[in-house]
Amino acid sequence: MRMPVIAGNWKLFKTIGESVALVNELKPLVANNKGVEVVVAPVFTALSRVSDAIAGSNIKLAAQDCFWEEEGAFTGEVAPGLLKDAGCSHVIIGHSERRQYFGETDLTVNKKAKAAIAAGLSAIVCVGELLAERESNQTFSVIETQIKGSLAGLTADDFAKIVIAYEPVWAIGTGKTASDAQAQEVHIFIRQLIARLFNQSVADAVRILYGGSVKPDNVKGLMAQPDIDGALVGGASLKAEPFAAIAAFNV
Ligand code: 13P
Repeated sequence: MRMPVIAGNWKLFKTIGESVALVNELKPLVANNKGVEVVVAPVFTALSRVSDAIAGSNIKLAAQDCFWEEEGAFTGEVAPGLLKDAGCSHVIIGHSERRQYFGETDLTVNKKAKAAIAAGLSAIVCVGELLAERESNQTFSVIETQIKGSLAGLTADDFAKIVIAYEPVWAIGTGKTASDAQAQEVHIFIRQLIARLFNQSVADAVRILYGGSVKPDNVKGLMAQPDIDGALVGGASLKAEPFAAIAAFNV
């Protein structure tokens, strides 16, 4: 009953031309994918042109971040409404790289998630523990703090526009994927936490994606886990063929 999501986070890669070329290559490869939502997240400058390129296709567009105000004297920021205007349906919020390098906190993630929802965007809210936290058995407490803080004050209705991405930081860009079982145990923990914090039907409906070195050869095992509802893909989303292969995990 939960529609899987395969999302490609292109991070700081690709010019406008390269971005348009990639989605043009991707479109026919995913055109017949049934029962999966395919999302790509190019850099800000490419959004509008990629939006034009994917018009009429089954590919959806995400930004990689947003601000929490709609307008004002906030030099350098991009508002959720402007992302909508550029053709986005989704926005990634609280990616570990933003938490690590740009001072993102659960509080700012929470403000951004609320602003994104208010603008009609789906927010892909990222959480994940560091290697040192996993090794000191703090994974569950770290995830609990991040989920509580990032999703504070949301209503059950807001969850129609929330997707959660669990990305263990030690698995991002390292080639070290969490094992299927390691990922599943965190995913079910998150779902049970959402049931406690909100309600069971919200928990049953919310999509929880796994991210961290997802590749064509490990996606099936991950997706076979009962609480893994999709993938947030970095490196393997930068080329059409591996990304399309990941998006075809169910064929
Ligand atoms: P990799 O797939 O390159 O590990 O990146 C994962 C990620 O950070 C997606 O947001």
